[in-house]
Parts: sequence; C-alpha cells; structure tokens
Amino acid sequence: MQSTRKLFVGGNWKCNTTLEKSVNLVETLLNSLSFNSAKLDVVIAPIFIHIPALKSGIKNAVQIAAQNCSLTSQGAYTGEIAADQIKDIGIDWVILGHSERRSYFGEDSELVGKKVKIALATGLKVIACIGEKLEEREAGNTFDVVKNQLTAINKEVSHEDWKNIVIAYEPVWAIGTGKVATPEQAQEVHEYIRKLMVEINNSEIAENVRIIYGGSVNGKNSSELIGKEDIDGFLVGGASLKPEFADIVKSCDSN
Ligand code: PGA
Repeated sequence: MQSTRKLFVGGNWKCNTTLEKSVNLVETLLNSLSFNSAKLDVVIAPIFIHIPALKSGIKNAVQIAAQNCSLTSQGAYTGEIAADQIKDIGIDWVILGHSERRSYFGEDSELVGKKVKIALATGLKVIACIGEKLEEREAGNTFDVVKNQLTAINKEVSHEDWKNIVIAYEPVWAIGTGKVATPEQAQEVHEYIRKLMVEINNSEIAENVRIIYGGSVNGKNSSELIGKEDIDGFLVGGASLKPEFADIVKSCDSN
C-alpha cells in the first residue's frame, strides 16, 4: 500500500432498502463507525430519494454519493437528475459507469466518459467503475477491456480532473457472486491500471490516483486485499448493508 494515497471505502447500496431501513442503517451501522478521516474516506451511496434524510442523520465523517447522474443539465428531461442538482443538495460524490448501468441500462464507455466530464464540471467527485466480464477474462482480454473503458474516460477529462476521480476496478464476474478476485488477481489489474495511467497521463497522476477494488468484498477478505500495493480501498455492494461493513472499514483504517 502506498502511504501517500488516502484510502477509500465506498458502500454501494444499489436499489435496496426502504427509507426506514436506510435510516436504521445510518443509526446502527454508520454512526458507530470510527475511523481517521484524514487517512480514509468512507462514502455510502443510497438511492437518490433517501439522500436528504440520511444526510441529516449522519453524525460522523461518512460521506454520501449518488449512484448515477444524468447526461443532461437541468431542463425538460423528465425523470432525470442532473449533476448540478446533486451538488446543490450538498453531495460531493457520484458513482458512474457501474457494470449494472452498463449492462442493464445500455451505458457504453463513450457515454460514461461524457457523464464523468459533466459530473466533474459541476464540482462532483467521481467513482468511475471499470471491469471485465467473465468471458472477456477467459478470452484473455481483461487488460484490453479495462484499457478501453479507462481511455474513454481519459479522453473527456483533464490532468487536473484526475484529482477528483477514484477508479473502481470491479470485475463483473465478482460482483454480487461471492466469487472475489484473489488478492493477486486484483493486484495484477490494479498494477496494470496504474502503469496505463503513466502511459496515457503521467507518473504523478498515476501515483496519486486511487484505485479501489469491488466485487464480493466482505469482512473476511478485505484485510488481505488491502495489503496489496496498488489496492487503495473498496467499493462494497452486498456487505455494505451488513454489520461486516464495519470490519471492512476497520481493515482499511488500521492498514
Ligand atoms: P458486491 O457489489 O460487493 O455485492 O459484489 C460490488 C459493487 O457492485 O459495487
């Protein structure tokens, strides 16, 4: 682990929970987390309509992310939520390019790159997700897939923008499946991404960008994963709704 990079633990709640359950998670799970916020960002992403209630209930340094934003600005776009409307209610982060949005909602890499650009322009920070599908890994295309997804984002942003982007490497075959990448498999891709960042940007950006891992992270496997040099934290789905989220945060806080 590089000591200069602040670690990051994201909790992606996806389209889960009722308002009552979400408020309860804040009170029982999140508010009892204690961590060094100078060393670690903890950011949870509930559904949009729960955000205001949860934001006012959080008593510690836990931050909130939106799970998506519109490609449009404000205007006649029924059903959309614009990046500046997220920023307007005091939210600093947005997850973009999650594999579920890519596969179920037709978001391709070009669109993800454009959304990243719009989000950054409004002052949001971005958790940008990339990762290969099982058949792509089996065909030996993992690096190519990751490279294409990352360069599509890189095309839309400036060197300065990378300060406000966290890259989430999430192999699709590991998401919600219980099949976590081994620490070696994850490190191999994280190292590749960092080298690629040198190639397409420069070594300073590559050294400073946070690359987090997502895909079946839990309270048991997080300690070993965070021990790897290029793994700077996690994006956690299922386990972020459970008490073990505290163990994941702890494994990073004490790293
Ligand atoms: P998971 O999801 O932890 O449930 O595998 C990760 C994610 O989708 O970000």
